[in-house]
Amino acid sequence: MTESSVVSPTAVLELMRISSRLDPWTVRAAATLRLPDLVAEGADTTSELAARSGTDPDALGRLMRHLTLLGLFRTTADGRWELAELGELLRDDHPMKLRSMFDQNDHYVRKVDRSSYGLLEAVRTGGAVWEKLHGRSFWEEMSADPGFGSGFNAQMAGHSARCSPAIARGYDWSTVQHVVDVGGGTGRCLATILGAHPHLRGTLVDLPGPVASAAAVLAEANVLGRCTVAPQSFFDPLPPGGDVYLLANAIHDWNDEDAAKILRRCTDAAGLDGRVLVADRVVTDEADKADQIFISGVDLGMLMLNGGRERSTEEFRKLGATAGLRHTATYVLADYPIMSLVEYVVEG
Ligand SMILES: C[S@@+](CC[C@H](N)C(=O)[O-])C[C@H]1O[C@@H](n2cnc3c(N)ncnc32)[C@H](O)[C@@H]1O
Repeated sequence: MTESSVVSPTAVLELMRISSRLDPWTVRAAATLRLPDLVAEGADTTSELAARSGTDPDALGRLMRHLTLLGLFRTTADGRWELAELGELLRDDHPMKLRSMFDQNDHYVRKVDRSSYGLLEAVRTGGAVWEKLHGRSFWEEMSADPGFGSGFNAQMAGHSARCSPAIARGYDWSTVQHVVDVGGGTGRCLATILGAHPHLRGTLVDLPGPVASAAAVLAEANVLGRCTVAPQSFFDPLPPGGDVYLLANAIHDWNDEDAAKILRRCTDAAGLDGRVLVADRVVTDEADKADQIFISGVDLGMLMLNGGRERSTEEFRKLGATAGLRHTATYVLADYPIMSLVEYVVEG
């Protein structure tokens, strides 16, 4: 150690903060116990909050003190709890739908949370560890464990609520007639795009499990009449004739080899006039540091769960080229700048 490496207490505290074993679990406890909702509904003393959440008043008071320091709650002059900005985000009816991401009553959330210790192994091996942890791949888990599959679809519905309106607004859909949503899940994103652009027709492609609920989702958005549903794998030939093949939150699930296979299926189906649009997070050192940390965290999650990755524009350019696609633009979604649309045209 040199003199210049004398330990700074601030650095020690910062290291302890970012490596905290407990902070993530305090937020999960708040979300699972619905503490923000209860406080908002008027349970603003510890005893009332403990009674309404079925918890021990002393332990709950200590949890609330910590959550207050983290910025989820505030205390009033007369010692009552009130919601702070971060706590507001955890209200169950908040449009961002974040509370369910942390809810330990949810089978999917619990299983993914508890698998996070696999990161070390993923870094050692350079690939997905889900299969080693659970005996089957992340995608096989969906059909083998129906509770896991429905929990995943519910999480995707929340994510779709955050990003689909931005996708619907963030692209010039006026030049498109027919959009094929590849790996489109239960159809929420397609429903939002078609709802916002009445001239569009759509085809939804996903595995039989997720598309089983698509008719209800599309009907609720009043777009069922303009949609076709194709229950199939995106590793098989895709329905031809679309102007745009959209892959929303789907390419980042896969390593380069598999991602290129999916893109190649899009290229083949799109034909010479077609476009492929990937909606994913794009790695860039130009984004805010907080956004970069979020994206690199998701990237590690993808590595661990299914061997996928987040990519830079340059990586997307190279990936597309291996599948017969020319990168034409990357549009940051103005209403949801954590995500971008990567646009390709089929190489003539
Ligand atoms: C992260 S979700 C994204 C869903 C949707 N695009 C969205 O943004 O909400 C990835 C989707 O890929 C689908 N998927 C995984 N493997 C697939 C395959 N072999 N063929 C078709 N879809 C698949 C999953 O069922 C899931 O719906």
